[in-house]
Amino acid sequence: MQTAMVENPLREGLRLERVPAPCAMVIFGASGDLTSRKLMPALYNLAIEGLLPSAFSVVGYARRGLTTESFREQMREAVDRHSRRRPVDPNVWETFAQGISYVDGNFENPDDYLTLGAELTRLDKERGTGGNRIFYLAAPPQMYRTIVDNLGAAGLVGVQSDASWTRVVVEKPFGRDLQSAIDLNDHLHTVFQENQIFRIDHYLGKETVQNIMAFRFANGIFEPIWSRNYIDHVQITVAETIGVEDRGGYYDQAGAMRDMVQNHMLQLLSVIAMEPPITFEADAVRDEKVKTLRAIRSIKPNEVENFTVRGQYGPGWVAGESVPGYRQEPKVNPDSMTETFVAVKLLIDNWRWAGVPFYLRSGKRMPRRVTEIAIQFKSVPHPLFKSTEGAPLEPNVLALRIQPDEGISMKIAAKVPGPHIRLRSVNMGFLYGTSFFVESPDAYERLLLDCMFGDSTLFTRRDETEAAWKPITEILQEWSEVTPPHFPNYEAGSWGPAAADAFMARDGRYWRQP
Ligand code: BG6
Repeated sequence: MQTAMVENPLREGLRLERVPAPCAMVIFGASGDLTSRKLMPALYNLAIEGLLPSAFSVVGYARRGLTTESFREQMREAVDRHSRRRPVDPNVWETFAQGISYVDGNFENPDDYLTLGAELTRLDKERGTGGNRIFYLAAPPQMYRTIVDNLGAAGLVGVQSDASWTRVVVEKPFGRDLQSAIDLNDHLHTVFQENQIFRIDHYLGKETVQNIMAFRFANGIFEPIWSRNYIDHVQITVAETIGVEDRGGYYDQAGAMRDMVQNHMLQLLSVIAMEPPITFEADAVRDEKVKTLRAIRSIKPNEVENFTVRGQYGPGWVAGESVPGYRQEPKVNPDSMTETFVAVKLLIDNWRWAGVPFYLRSGKRMPRRVTEIAIQFKSVPHPLFKSTEGAPLEPNVLALRIQPDEGISMKIAAKVPGPHIRLRSVNMGFLYGTSFFVESPDAYERLLLDCMFGDSTLFTRRDETEAAWKPITEILQEWSEVTPPHFPNYEAGSWGPAAADAFMARDGRYWRQP
């Protein structure tokens, strides 16, 4: 890997040399999946890159009766299993693990927060973490308020000063509708100020999502055509092959709309549709995103049926393997009416996008894992040519591939070599893999580092979360009142219910096969 980086001239000068100030990060819910799969591997990878602060500590907080030694051992196994760099390098691990400790604490017991406070003071003294703290809420969301209250009561949320800082990272789900998101925001604000709150949406940490902004705002040629004058519609697809794995308990209360659309997909939509910010600073970027989210047209109750499709997978085959239906998954209600697929048409009421539909679809147990944004341009005003098959030529499509096979491609019409004028669509493309020849960091690496720097550009601001919940809550409300579709209505391993195709066909369009 190191050699590849040196050999590739496009990588030159790309290393981020800045390192954040010393700090300690407390993970509430340290025995959970997120810590093992994402947080620890991300921190370990930052350690390999030499990007962690010179003095850095992680404190795992959970009620598992562990010791620091056994917690370190568990974390090593987790990193060994989930890090993008495996096996663990014993030398890097040794140094990194010296900064890991464990507090056996209950979220509800105020005394345990005093123990935590004592541990943080010890770390300041012995490891030089400088009084800077990040509290990471990786606990069950119903515990967020309790943790916040107890942190406040134990005096662990210091006053912000030039000398030291305290920040809180809040994982999704951030509420389950607009009102609960407002309540949670209010509650966080009883203890933290807005600039201390980092609401995480890991999609924003993906290189390819950040590149959307680079693509749009560092290249002059796209802005003039980035509007209703040239764009017919936009399709955003987030398809997953996995089912709900062992998260049935959570997922059955959430569903695809809350789990994927309200957060990740609306974030994708907002970076695609936002106006150019005046600077690339946190508030300037988020101001523009909020404006876009607020411009999403409310879907009236009697229109919800025409603007959305819900699906739930039954048994089927994915990648040659027979898989159970959603209702047969562990911890899922056998009569569950939770959607595992959703398609929705959103309209953005502003000058740039008036009349351009944004079609969003997301589903579990699809045939292929792919996240893609396809900008479909209008057809030429006066067609001179036909395609090889005699059909009208397909219009240009700019496809931003978020994952996997990260890259960007542009579909254009080209003349097939030969004596006759025959045209066919071809793709011009850029692939991360072959251009930069380097593995992209995991989204959490970037976001954890940004949080240590205090840069909230890639985190969602209060008004942004609420603006994203508003149109979604209206749909959920209507869904809860009308007769639901007959579930299951798509086979695992298919592209979703037939109704999703009919939904596009009604608009004279079709889903692109990504
Ligand atoms: C999470 C959802 O936020 O995102 C999961 O809760 C989903 O249900 C995951 O599988 C998808 O993330 P990624 O990075 O694999 O696209």
